[in-house]
Amino acid sequence: MVRNTSEVGGVSGNRFGSSDRFITGQSSAPIGLFDSGVGGLTVLRELYRQLPHESVIYFGDTARLPYGTRSPAQILEYVREILTWMVQQGVKMVIMACNTSSALALEAVQSEFDIPILGLILPGSRAAVQQGRRIGVIATPATAASHAYRHAILEADPTAQVWEVGCPEFVPLIEHNRVNDPYTAAIAQEYLEPLIQQRIDTLIYGCTHYPYLAPILRQILPSTVTLVDPAVSVVAAAAQELDLLALKNVRPPLPTRFYVSGSPLTFSGLAAQWLGCTPVVEQVAVSTLTALSASQVPTL
Ligand code: DGL
Repeated sequence: MVRNTSEVGGVSGNRFGSSDRFITGQSSAPIGLFDSGVGGLTVLRELYRQLPHESVIYFGDTARLPYGTRSPAQILEYVREILTWMVQQGVKMVIMACNTSSALALEAVQSEFDIPILGLILPGSRAAVQQGRRIGVIATPATAASHAYRHAILEADPTAQVWEVGCPEFVPLIEHNRVNDPYTAAIAQEYLEPLIQQRIDTLIYGCTHYPYLAPILRQILPSTVTLVDPAVSVVAAAAQELDLLALKNVRPPLPTRFYVSGSPLTFSGLAAQWLGCTPVVEQVAVSTLTALSASQVPTL
């Protein structure tokens, strides 16, 4: 792990310091995106829309999902392993396409790695306070328990009111391809009920898997509720940061490289539905990630 103990500041809504803090790579290097599974593809789709000239490496830690029911220490360990691997792949920036990692690990790893690392919580919170004051957040149990969204929203607008709901069943249902199962709609109704009771005007997708549930959530929520997908604003922040660091790719982008720690076949089958094409997926074993991370000697 490459350590850097310099102070972190605030640039484009993300807590990284001045551009000279980073050992910046080449502008043609890929951007790294990671999630526990297919959730991060909702961020990837947004990246394709806003930054079509960038090359991407996507990692899904499918052997260890869901993250949302794991301890903060476990999540931080996984994130460190993935970032170490991504740095070895030569990425110029990482977007954590996972709210749970952003909520539990972003602050720690931003001061440990010498590349810009962006998370979803601040951009998502800032986007939400532009929309309303009665803000609901649906998230994994770990994200909801961290109150990362509550803190970020109140920092952006102290007059806002926030209700966070942990939704433990959503990620397993989505990863098992059960979005259209009547059970998913029933459980969604249960999770949203307390937020509807509170008359929220805005709802944040506090997990990157949840935009896949949009048609179901839309049917349950009053039509006056605005849905906020933090993917839109994190990619906008990434674009700003690339500009600032003079790291925008000017060459033709390479095809996205997909890696998972679990079954490549299962991932590509599921990913095809959401991407509209079947990705070629390679496996990186968990043992490779842990060995690589353990071999890093911190340079303090
Ligand atoms: N998609 C992730 C998130 O945004 C993680 C889901 C999980 O593995 O629990 O939090």
